[in-house]
Amino acid sequence: SGKFFVGGNWKCNGTKDSISKLVSDLNSATLESDVDVVVAPPFVYIDQVKNSLTDRIEIAAQNCWTGKGGAFTGEISVEQLKDLGCKWVVLGHSERRHVIGEDDQFIGKKAAYALSEGVGVIACIGELLEEREAGKTFDVCFQQMKAYADAVPSWDNIVVAYEPVWAIGTGKVASPEQAQEVHIAVRDWLSKNVSAEVASKTRIIYGGSVNGGNCAELAKKEDIDGFLVGGASLKGPEFATIINSVT
Ligand code: 13P
Repeated sequence: SGKFFVGGNWKCNGTKDSISKLVSDLNSATLESDVDVVVAPPFVYIDQVKNSLTDRIEIAAQNCWTGKGGAFTGEISVEQLKDLGCKWVVLGHSERRHVIGEDDQFIGKKAAYALSEGVGVIACIGELLEEREAGKTFDVCFQQMKAYADAVPSWDNIVVAYEPVWAIGTGKVASPEQAQEVHIAVRDWLSKNVSAEVASKTRIIYGGSVNGGNCAELAKKEDIDGFLVGGASLKGPEFATIINSVT
């Protein structure tokens, strides 16, 4: 449902030089027109990327502060992101939840503030391996969805990214069936808890060890509306292959 959406999350990677090479590879790649494409560079390189990357690709930040700027050492405000031309922000990523320790409420606050400023939110959810093994995948994903739903006034500018934590950076991609099962459950959750309209319109993208070799099979699944790509988004030609896997 909705236009295919592919995001490249560069995480904490890159230098001015490597990013200049990546941007030039992306600028020369042929990309399917019917796909929304976004890249999320580290904050410090956003300006460089915005000034050199084709307008065909939009920019996301990897995080933001919960409100207006001010005396918040080390934080970056949504207003500053807009000033640099960011249209999106990735929130609730598993690395921020499980490595940095952000909780649902903090993430919800950021999502609400970004949306209030007109910045789209790539809202990540996903279970740990032990949660999957304990049969809690849906419970965990629904609780994370509820935290967003409780915080945001509208779903118009939100893309949900299902990223099982055990699949992130591990090379252990979810099977198309495993991903589809969660995506349809999340869509059903939206239908019951938000509205049927939001459920059918909201894009639910998959992330976790997506690469040029496994994207086509995943993209065939009805409820997989795109991808959030980590490692493979650092290679221009491979990222282009993933973008062009739209069916
Ligand atoms: P990998 O594609 O490197 O597994 O990372 C996925 C991810 O976390 C994207 O946000």
